[in-house]
Amino acid sequence: MTYKINLQPSDESFAADPGESVLEAALRHGLNLPHSCRGGSCLSCRARILAGRVEYPRGFPAALTEAEASEGFALLCQARALTDLQVEARPLEVPGNVRIRRLPCRVQRLERLSEDVMGLYLKLPGFEPFEYLAGQYVDILLADGRRRSFSIANPPFDSELLELHVRRVTGGHFTEHVFEKMKERALLRLEGPLGQFYLRDDQQRPLLMMAGGTGYAPIKAILRQAFQDDFASPIHFYWGARAACDLYDRQTVEAWTSERFAFVPVLSEPQAEDVWAGRTGWVHRAVLADFPDLSGLDVYAAGPPAMIEAAREEFLAAGLPKERLFFDSFDYAADSDD
Ligand SMILES: Cc1cc2nc3c(=O)[nH]c(=O)nc-3n(C[C@H](O)[C@H](O)[C@H](O)COP(=O)(O)OP(=O)(O)OC[C@H]3O[C@@H](n4cnc5c(N)ncnc54)[C@H](O)[C@@H]3O)c2cc1C
Ligand code: FES
Repeated sequence: MTYKINLQPSDESFAADPGESVLEAALRHGLNLPHSCRGGSCLSCRARILAGRVEYPRGFPAALTEAEASEGFALLCQARALTDLQVEARPLEVPGNVRIRRLPCRVQRLERLSEDVMGLYLKLPGFEPFEYLAGQYVDILLADGRRRSFSIANPPFDSELLELHVRRVTGGHFTEHVFEKMKERALLRLEGPLGQFYLRDDQQRPLLMMAGGTGYAPIKAILRQAFQDDFASPIHFYWGARAACDLYDRQTVEAWTSERFAFVPVLSEPQAEDVWAGRTGWVHRAVLADFPDLSGLDVYAAGPPAMIEAAREEFLAAGLPKERLFFDSFDYAADSDD
């Protein structure tokens, strides 16, 4: 059964199909409601249900407390409508002509960036430009109805091909396919652009960017866009990885260093062959060692959920205002039909 979802205070309405989360339905209708992980862990999609009932077919999300649920709060990435709903949630106004679309695309090039990261370069149909903001991501729509999220690693001003950095997940349905079977000229379908991880230039505060592994992908796009736009404030970029070989685009980043751009690579498990004289440990701890007071900075962080969670807690404790922390948590949503 299809239910009507009404958003307040904008009074916009859309239909949610059976099996679809409220968030999925909103995105399908081009309404960019706040979200990040889509896996029920980051709380970005938390909203109040003003009328109607929801259920959680994948189980009650661990990140939501029973007390919050009884006050009417729900996680829209997990909640399915059981009735028509009225929800207090504001779609994010994304600047420019950005609208969410479903498009076919062709794999133009596959390039091994490291042992477990593949560069996937996608050609979109030429009839209409694909507008997005540096830092956003796309969902690859798989033939069986499942979807997989990947950040766009190149900025819109240089987007003849969409560049994705795909990390191989052992036993992963899609990423193993990319490494083992995918051939150039393969056809895919994607939905996007999605997400709210893009540079806010409303305040010219110094920027602190932090990536874990392929969390570098959206940050690469944002950095290139910031350089192109001659972003005035200083930028500090910390890239955390296990070993030196996992910093798969290190030379590019090093070539960007300047008076206004500082790069700090941090390894959690340097290997003997790395002969590493640089920083070690958890990347967010390296940030805190250098910036014990984060109150004057804007922070952009992307990568594994554990890194984002730890950073969120410790960065806020170090004085970072909540509204100046922007993040993309590379969670993996439980499979659902699209
Ligand atoms: C907004 C967003 C942006 C993302 N951008 C990128 C990106 O630019 N580059 C990138 O490499 N990844 C990115 N990810 C993560 C990526 O979507 C997943 O790694 C991918 O969906 C895994 O697909 P799969 O079919 O290979 O694995 P699945 O078949 O879905 O999973 C197989 C097994 O591995 C586990 N698993 C799945 N993904 C991960 C993971 N990431 N880490 C640890 N265990 C996992 C699952 O629980 C399952 O047990 C992003 C995620 C989000 C939400
Ligand atoms: S908890 Fe719903 S998007 Fe992260």
